[in-house]
Amino acid sequence: MNNITAAITAVGAYVPDYVLTNKILETLVDTNDEWITSRTGIKERRILKDDTKGTSFLAIKAAQDLIAKANIDPLEIDMVIMATATPDMPVAASGVYVATEIGATNAFAYDLQAACSSFLYGMSTAAAYIQSGRYKKVLLIGADKMSSIVDYTDRTTCIIFGDGAGAALFEPNYEGLGLQDEYLRSDAVGRDFLKIDAGGSLHPASIQTVEEGRHNIKQDGKTVFKYAVTNMADASEMILKRNNLTNADVDWLVPHQANKRIIDATASRMNLEDSKVLMNIEKYGNTTSATLPLVLNDFENLFKKGDTIILAAFGGGFTWGSIYLKWAYDKK
Ligand SMILES: CC(C)(COP(=O)(O)OP(=O)(O)OC[C@H]1O[C@@H](n2cnc3c(N)ncnc32)[C@H](O)[C@@H]1OP(=O)(O)O)[C@@H](O)C(=O)NCCC(=O)NCCS
Repeated sequence: MNNITAAITAVGAYVPDYVLTNKILETLVDTNDEWITSRTGIKERRILKDDTKGTSFLAIKAAQDLIAKANIDPLEIDMVIMATATPDMPVAASGVYVATEIGATNAFAYDLQAACSSFLYGMSTAAAYIQSGRYKKVLLIGADKMSSIVDYTDRTTCIIFGDGAGAALFEPNYEGLGLQDEYLRSDAVGRDFLKIDAGGSLHPASIQTVEEGRHNIKQDGKTVFKYAVTNMADASEMILKRNNLTNADVDWLVPHQANKRIIDATASRMNLEDSKVLMNIEKYGNTTSATLPLVLNDFENLFKKGDTIILAAFGGGFTWGSIYLKWAYDKK
C-alpha cells in the first residue's frame, strides 16, 4: 500500500525593490488611488526595472531564499518545476536555467504554463511525483515578470499586475500531512477574454503584431471577473463538501491574489471569517504564478503543523481550481 503523501516542507520568495504605487500610476494613465483601491484592493506592486533580467532572475532569488532558509543541499533536488506565464524566452525552458543557476545539477527541469493557475496546477504535478515514490525533493517555483507583457498605457491591466516569485519544496510525508485533495478544471470559453494574442504559432511576431500592441496582455475585465468569482467560489465550496469539511475545520484560505473582491466572494461562499483569509494583494498586486507562494511565504509564521489550508486560483484559459492541504511543519 502506498502511504506517501506530498508535503510542503519549506518556502521562499523574492520581490524586486522598485515599488510602483497607485500614485505613480496616476501619472501614467487616467486613474486614481481611490478607484484602484476600492475596485481591486491593490495599493502598490513591485517591478523588476532592470531590462537585462527576465523572470528567471526572480525565480533564482526565490529558490535561493528557500534553499538558505531550509538549509538544503541543491544537489539533492530531483526536479524543478517552474510555473510561469512569462518565461525568459519562448524556447529553452526557464526552469532549466534556474535549476542550473541554483546548483540543482542533479535535477531535471521544465516550465508549466496555466496563466494564474500555474502554481496551483504545479502543486498537483509536484505532489503526484512525490506520491508515486519516484522523487524525494521536488522544487516548485512560481515566478512572473508581468511588467514585461503589460502595456503601461492600458489602465485596465497596468493597475493590476506586478512582478514577483515564490518557491515551495515538496517532500514525502508519512504522517498523512500535505496535499489531501484537488479539484482542478479548465474551459476554453475563456480563450478570448484574457490573452496575449500574438507571438505564438497562431500569430507569430511580425512588424504588424508589434505595431498593433498584440504582444501585451489584454483582458475583458468584467467577463474575467464574473467567471473568476463563480469558479473560484464553486471550486472552494466543492473541495469542502467532498471532504466533509465545514468552515470551522478550515484554518486558512490561501487564494490567488487577483482582486480583493474575488477573494471576498470566495471567502463568503465558504462562510469563512476574515481572519482566516490571507491576503497581500495590497503590496504586490497580481503576480500571476507567484501569488500563492508569496502568500505562503508571507504568512508562514502563522501556520502550525496539521493546519487545514485551502488554496484556490483562477486564471486565463480559463483555468481554475482548489487544493486541500494539511500543513506539515511548525516554523523553527
Ligand atoms: C479590471 C477590473 C478591476 C475593473 O473593475 P470593474 O468594476 O469591472 O470596472 P469596469 O470595467 O466595469 O469599469 C467601470 C468604469 O471604470 C473605468 N475604469 C476602468 N479602469 C479604470 C481605472 N484603472 N481607473 C479608473 N477608471 C477605470 C471604466 O472605463 C468604466 O468606466 P465607464 O463606466 O465610464 O465605462 C475588474 O473587472 C477585475 O478585476 N477583473 C478581473 C481581472 C483579473 O482578475 N484578471 C486576472 C485574472 S487571474
